Amino acid sequence: MHLHRSTAWRRASTIAILLTGSCLSAAASNPSLAARVLDPLPLGSISPKGWLQDQLQLMGDGLAGHEHDFYDYVADSSWLGGSSEYSDLNEGFPYWFNGLVPLAYSLGDTRLKDQVSQSVNYVLSHQQSDGWLGPETDNSTRNFWGRFPFFLGLAQLAEAENGTDASTQVLDSMHKFITLMHSMLEDNYLGYVSQSGQNIDDQWGRARAADMILGLQWLYEHDPRSDTQVIFDCMDLLYEKASNWSDWYTDSLYIKQDLDTVPVNITDYYYPFEHGVNVGQGLKFGAVIQRLTGQTSFGDNARTAVDWTFQYHGQPSGGVIADERLSGLSPVRGVELCSVVETIYSLNYLYQTLGDVEFADRAELAAYNALPVMLTPDWWAHQYVSQTNQPISHTFDSDPFYNVNTAGQHFGLEPNYPCCTVNHPQGYPKFVSNSFVRSGDNGIAHALLGPTSVNTTTNSGVSVTISVDTLYPFSYELAYTVQSTDDFDFYVRVPSWASSSSTISINSETASQVQADSSSGLHRVAVSKGKTSILYTLDTDLRVTDRANDTVAIYHGSLLYSLPIGEKVTSYSSNVTGAPIGVEEYEYYPTTTWALAIDPSTLEYNGASSDATLSNPIWSLNAPPVTITATVCEINWNLTGGYAPNPPLKADRKCIGDSFQTKLVPYGSARLHIAEIPTLSQT
Ligand SMILES: *[C@@H]1O[C@H](CO)[C@@H](O)[C@H](O)[C@H]1NC(C)=O
Ligand SMILES: *[C@@H]1O[C@H](CO)[C@@H](O)[C@H](O)[C@H]1NC(C)=O
Ligand SMILES: *[C@@H]1O[C@H](CO)[C@@H](O)[C@H](O)[C@H]1NC(C)=O
Ligand SMILES: *[C@@H]1O[C@H](CO)[C@@H](O)[C@H](O)[C@H]1NC(C)=O
Ligand SMILES: *[C@@H]1O[C@H](CO)[C@@H](O)[C@H](O)[C@H]1NC(C)=O
Ligand SMILES: *[C@@H]1O[C@H](CO)[C@@H](O)[C@H](O)[C@H]1NC(C)=O
Ligand SMILES: *[C@@H]1O[C@H](CO)[C@@H](O)[C@H](O)[C@H]1NC(C)=O
Ligand SMILES: *[C@@H]1O[C@H](CO)[C@@H](O)[C@H](O)[C@H]1NC(C)=O
Repeated sequence: MHLHRSTAWRRASTIAILLTGSCLSAAASNPSLAARVLDPLPLGSISPKGWLQDQLQLMGDGLAGHEHDFYDYVADSSWLGGSSEYSDLNEGFPYWFNGLVPLAYSLGDTRLKDQVSQSVNYVLSHQQSDGWLGPETDNSTRNFWGRFPFFLGLAQLAEAENGTDASTQVLDSMHKFITLMHSMLEDNYLGYVSQSGQNIDDQWGRARAADMILGLQWLYEHDPRSDTQVIFDCMDLLYEKASNWSDWYTDSLYIKQDLDTVPVNITDYYYPFEHGVNVGQGLKFGAVIQRLTGQTSFGDNARTAVDWTFQYHGQPSGGVIADERLSGLSPVRGVELCSVVETIYSLNYLYQTLGDVEFADRAELAAYNALPVMLTPDWWAHQYVSQTNQPISHTFDSDPFYNVNTAGQHFGLEPNYPCCTVNHPQGYPKFVSNSFVRSGDNGIAHALLGPTSVNTTTNSGVSVTISVDTLYPFSYELAYTVQSTDDFDFYVRVPSWASSSSTISINSETASQVQADSSSGLHRVAVSKGKTSILYTLDTDLRVTDRANDTVAIYHGSLLYSLPIGEKVTSYSSNVTGAPIGVEEYEYYPTTTWALAIDPSTLEYNGASSDATLSNPIWSLNAPPVTITATVCEINWNLTGGYAPNPPLKADRKCIGDSFQTKLVPYGSARLHIAEIPTLSQT
């Protein structure tokens, strides 16, 4: 079966492997996956601590943890026997499930685990006799796409419940499903490629194929049974008809300019490549296909994908600027919450697969800036899109976005579209569950810095527990308590922004400078059996990066900083159908002047004091214990259409009042913010 599917690319990879003598066992009858640089740990091995624990608990107590109780697209989903769907893609429940599983198991929260088990029991016990998962009963209405996030949720659940009947049931149903998937894909790509030939009908599954191929790779590596051939055939068939991101990220096709200057053509094959959430998901495509084909050119293409996406369409906070469609670099344009969480997930997969430190740096940037700024501090309300320069959050008078309405920038239950209501919960839980990884035969690495703990084994079987006490990213000291049954290699990631005076000290001995691997950014510490304490102290400087039209973005460590803007918050009971009493929609109005220009030569960082503690919620105005002092003055710059337009050009800027000192605050804590700040010399 596999042989007749053996396509040109697989033959090419076989030849390449024979030539280079790579460790892949490449015979087509015995397929395998190319190795990763770093291996993920099973869900449940890592727990949040400190402020990350508070954050996940806020999610559990907030919207994410209550959608199963009241939100129709979850509670009354057609997947659970109900009838509420926001589109015929039936993706609402799968999105929610993919985020709730890691939230419930990272927190170890019984109520949330019950939501997961009740809903998965319903879906599995209603698996159709031919193996289909989900409510669609005949092939003409079956679209694989909604299964992709559901499969990722199932994989996480099978890991967290490994060894129990619940895990076996999940795996049984996955095998039954992929057998059907295989026969459907062999049957003219049923459920995947539109039988009408209109690419608009099947764009989601094909643009997001990497997510399903990744799920199949997981199954092959955790529980292949006798289905190895079926799994590889499915991956090959999906890849053959996937929207080919590796093609898109080439000079002749990729759109580098402002897309407002490029006509929209929704029937074009390349149209789905312009969609923001597709882009976030598609960033991992090259790495997923490198694992499948063994060809490193795909991994290199994924590097290009990340470089170009952020160079031409990246927001300083780590998100992708696309109010549905990519635009250019204007601070007026929107970054969608779904695309932020998908981007973080893709970047983690990229770091594990390809090992470049930049991917982890970018995952932290988005997780510590782009994500928290889009939710209210209590994690009950969110924006559909945020703007880099956002001195007000409400319903606009006119619409600056491509396909997001004037209400899409306010905070609420489902501003404009419901997809981010169900998809946002994966953000922090997956960030936590990817924060530690296995490295090599006998190593554990702290990949994403922040307060978490891990209880696991190295690939060679040494049991290790590591607990990290830190206020990071609000401070730069990470104190590790390590316990291991034998010697092992411990690694810490040294972010690219860290200076060479970053140090590490073991058991209170003299600190030595970190020596990061130039590719992975990992610094190795040889740890002896027993208990070890490690103090890792990062050192860094302020970073000022130029943005469009003489504006700057200002960073210290992983945090982007914004002009501080006083907030007046008003709210009203949500009028979204089915919203219970207590669920609110919010408007944020500025109480201080936001039309300011900055003199970048005046910046001074005010770090956290050594006895600082973090309040909960930490992503709240004036809560973080860090600021940057700056000299600013007011300029002429007014709202138009109810939002802040592009800042006045340099030639039109002058101080209209005295210069004064202000304190910039972390962007993630400032729902009202200006983060591409116009510059003006004031000395
Ligand atoms: C859908 O198509 C597949 C492949 O042709 C087939 O195996 C399956 O039985 C069909 N299911 C239904 C409900 O028609
Ligand atoms: C369960 O744990 C075993 C032993 O670590 C591992 O080999 C297997 O892949 C795990 N299965 C799942 C479904 O995670
Ligand atoms: C995808 O694009 C890459 C780069 O152009 C090419 O090498 C590869 O063969 C394409 N894959 C498929 C399935 O067409
Ligand atoms: C839109 O794309 C289709 C498919 O590639 C193409 O046939 C058509 O000419 C394009 N239309 C315009 C206006 O460019
Ligand atoms: C820079 O300013 C020009 C002139 O106002 C404007 O057309 C352009 O969109 C701005 N660029 C960005 C990236 O905001
Ligand atoms: C680590 O996990 C093992 C196996 O589940 C358990 O026995 C042990 O108590 C855990 N250790 C800690 C410190 O949580
Ligand atoms: C909800 O109320 C707001 C404010 O009164 C209004 O602008 C909006 O149109 C209403 N939305 C719905 C779905 O009724
Ligand atoms: C902003 O509004 C003020 C007060 O209405 C007005 O004097 C000023 O000219 C406006 N500035 C611009 C750039 O429109």
